[in-house]
Amino acid sequence: FQESELETYRPEYHFTPKKGWINDPNGMIFIDGEYHLFFQYYPDSTVWGPMHWGHAVSTDLVNWEEKPIGLYPDSLGYIFSGSAVYDGENTSGLGSSENPPLIAIFTYHDMEGEKSGKTDYQSQGIAFSLDKGKTWTKYAGNPVLPNQGIKDFRDPKVRQIIHPDGQKSWIMTLAVMDRIQFFESPDLKNWKLLSEFGQDVGAHGGVWECPDLLEMTAPDGTKKWVLLVSINPGGPQKGSATQYFIGNFAEGKFTPDDTMIRWLDYGPDNYAGVTWSNLPSSQNRTLFIGWMSNWLYAQVVPTKSWRSAMTLPRELSLIDINGTLLLQSKPAKELENLRKEEYSISNEEYPLPSQAFELIAEVEDEFTLEFSNELGEKLILSKEFGLVSIDRTRAGKSTFHEDFAAVHSSPMSWEARTIRVFIDASSIELFVNESEITMTSLLFPGSPWKTVSLSKGLEDVRVFSLKK
Ligand code: FRU
Repeated sequence: FQESELETYRPEYHFTPKKGWINDPNGMIFIDGEYHLFFQYYPDSTVWGPMHWGHAVSTDLVNWEEKPIGLYPDSLGYIFSGSAVYDGENTSGLGSSENPPLIAIFTYHDMEGEKSGKTDYQSQGIAFSLDKGKTWTKYAGNPVLPNQGIKDFRDPKVRQIIHPDGQKSWIMTLAVMDRIQFFESPDLKNWKLLSEFGQDVGAHGGVWECPDLLEMTAPDGTKKWVLLVSINPGGPQKGSATQYFIGNFAEGKFTPDDTMIRWLDYGPDNYAGVTWSNLPSSQNRTLFIGWMSNWLYAQVVPTKSWRSAMTLPRELSLIDINGTLLLQSKPAKELENLRKEEYSISNEEYPLPSQAFELIAEVEDEFTLEFSNELGEKLILSKEFGLVSIDRTRAGKSTFHEDFAAVHSSPMSWEARTIRVFIDASSIELFVNESEITMTSLLFPGSPWKTVSLSKGLEDVRVFSLKK
């Protein structure tokens, strides 16, 4: 490679590793004022390989500092996706009451076992940290949840639950083939199967991965449980995507309210996202981040020294659209701190101030806007005939995979009123009506977007240059 190409497409305000391959976000936890982000990481190449947990830390969700690797593969296998919790009462006994541990719960993937034809090559292990996430020690008794011979048995997301009688226990939500299994433990070491969910409901075009079980409040004040389930392939735009279910979790069982299939993001590039644990209740929010790619082409996108970024951090909440509950994912409020200069746009064609920017506008129900650059490449956003679309067919490099150049659409049968668009060197994130519809998409333009053309239905357009 030419030295000058090594950093081409490097986002300015999305997390990327300095070098190497990343996929899913893992083990996100907030402790002592710091947001920890671990992630599936292979430092030695820009394609998937022996999985580690890479590590980055932020105090503001915008500036990320990459730290030494959190977890390395060992004799039990690669370290696949999982979660982290604060064991405040030292239920695990791996810390002390004066210094309670953080516990990471992850999947061991035994590559040799898989190659030799075994079916029990995925199991769950734990590690503990006594220095607020800086360093981790694997538990000597791993695996804590062995496998009974099911090939896909992974991605434990653990949370604490308070039962109606006031007792607390740990609940593990695990992806098992194309089902979810819930397990319970008093101490994070001994796990008992509670129930299985997923038959006859949800999308089943692929294997289920990276689940998350969230307690949320509906706009009418009712308590709800939301289950995020990533699926690959079988997403609405081909390849990977994240579906979710809204319902109730009681007596160890998840019961959905209905059988409607709902997608967290209608773009092609938001996968395997889960939420932060241990946020103080004063933050009063559910904070999410996803992997900004798609297994269809993740390993061949045209970046050189690193591959993949995370999505913007987002706040999840439930909204009611004409009597149907949906999960909304808004850009985290901290992203407003990226705004530098503000420009009001009244002309139909307007020069853009920087390659990283945010655009907000009021829209008529049907709208079209277009970003273009010096090379004649175009990125088109629109709503027409009840469909919100992102057209990246002419938005830059796409020959690396036959499915990349495409128009992606999301149904939206109700009226559009506002849009909010985040552009970075190689991505767009579109939020319609305060995030009632969200679409995330990778793009590889040959030069930065230089002009925005307001073709139809936009008013009060404002652009902010963004900088860390
Ligand atoms: C999802 C996934 C997980 C697995 C990890 C391996 O993208 O396939 O199910 O734990 O990636 O890197």
